[in-house]
Amino acid sequence: MGNQRVYNFSAGPSMLPLEVLERAGAEITNYQGSGMSVMEMSHRSKVFQKIFDETQAKFRKLLGVPEGYKILFLQGGASTQFSAVPLNLISRTGRADYAVTGNFSNIAYKEAKKYGTISLAASSADRNHTYIPAQDQLKLDPTASYFYYCANNTIYGTEWQYVPETQGVPLVCDMSSDILSRPVDVSRYGVIFAGAQKNMAPAGLTVVIVKEELAGAELPYTPLMLGYKTMIEKDSMYNTPPCWCIYILGLVLDWLEGQGGVPGMEKIKHGKAQMLYDVIDSSRLFNCPVEPGSRSDMNVAFRSVSEELDAKFVSEATAAGFTNLKGHRSVGGMRASIYNAMPLEGVEKLVDFIKAFDANH
Ligand SMILES: Cc1ncc(COP(=O)(O)O)c(C=O)c1O
Repeated sequence: MGNQRVYNFSAGPSMLPLEVLERAGAEITNYQGSGMSVMEMSHRSKVFQKIFDETQAKFRKLLGVPEGYKILFLQGGASTQFSAVPLNLISRTGRADYAVTGNFSNIAYKEAKKYGTISLAASSADRNHTYIPAQDQLKLDPTASYFYYCANNTIYGTEWQYVPETQGVPLVCDMSSDILSRPVDVSRYGVIFAGAQKNMAPAGLTVVIVKEELAGAELPYTPLMLGYKTMIEKDSMYNTPPCWCIYILGLVLDWLEGQGGVPGMEKIKHGKAQMLYDVIDSSRLFNCPVEPGSRSDMNVAFRSVSEELDAKFVSEATAAGFTNLKGHRSVGGMRASIYNAMPLEGVEKLVDFIKAFDANH
């Protein structure tokens, strides 16, 4: 490989658009004549404030975040939100509904139990999380303070293809692995959060979109840093925000705009995923464990007829410049994570590689 960039199918942190990396590289020692790197700047400086404001505005425009919602740029990863969500939202009734469709929603569910009465509104554990429960399978508690789900299950390769209808109970959604890949009607949500390291920026930034009227009811022992109100009042700058990641997010959003924004990206990413599912479904050796109708456009899970052949596939693919295709240890097989920044060409070449492997074994 040496000097050559590979097609990196990592589940996260994952590929960033090459033009974003090149632009960041060109500006790395002297950002637009400021005489310093964005990494070296005070977060209270005028130069950084402009980066911050523009990034927030671009995000609002591209995802269509309406008035009445605050966009927060926080630290702590998506996992910190597993605690922040119940701490901030559960006091209304002391109850919440959780749909457990994979590893991360299960962690969030267990964490929330520390703070209130949590009902399992749905679980896909009965079939090893290979499907997303249908609307009529959701057991909804009308007194829940919120309904929680994870839009895309990174490990299992499933994705919700509908927005749950909860009769007025606010939706809370972990969109870590599919944010900005498809349009979202933000007005249907109370809170949306996402770690940046798949579709947005390097690890270290968590974007949290909060309906402002829901903030301010946190449990009395909520850590200061986890209170949505704290961060809303200080526009994410109660303490030092993840400055560098916010800057890169701004560059990624410029790039996304050039792809036709979120609707443009939706077409591109769906086309990429469809190509992979088609070659897997029509192969002799490979199959996708996820049920049609629940398959993720971001993380394509597949496996061959044996673990030995899976290992051979992964090792030959790596040698050919397709890296990080090994599936998560809890699922096995392979997983191609094809987030927004994975170029179409990378998927086309992987499709050719799968076809050739299928023909030769
Ligand atoms: C859907 C989802 N939620 C949450 C997380 C955890 O994110 P973090 O590592 O930012 O805490 C991940 C990480 O891969 C994820 O894929």
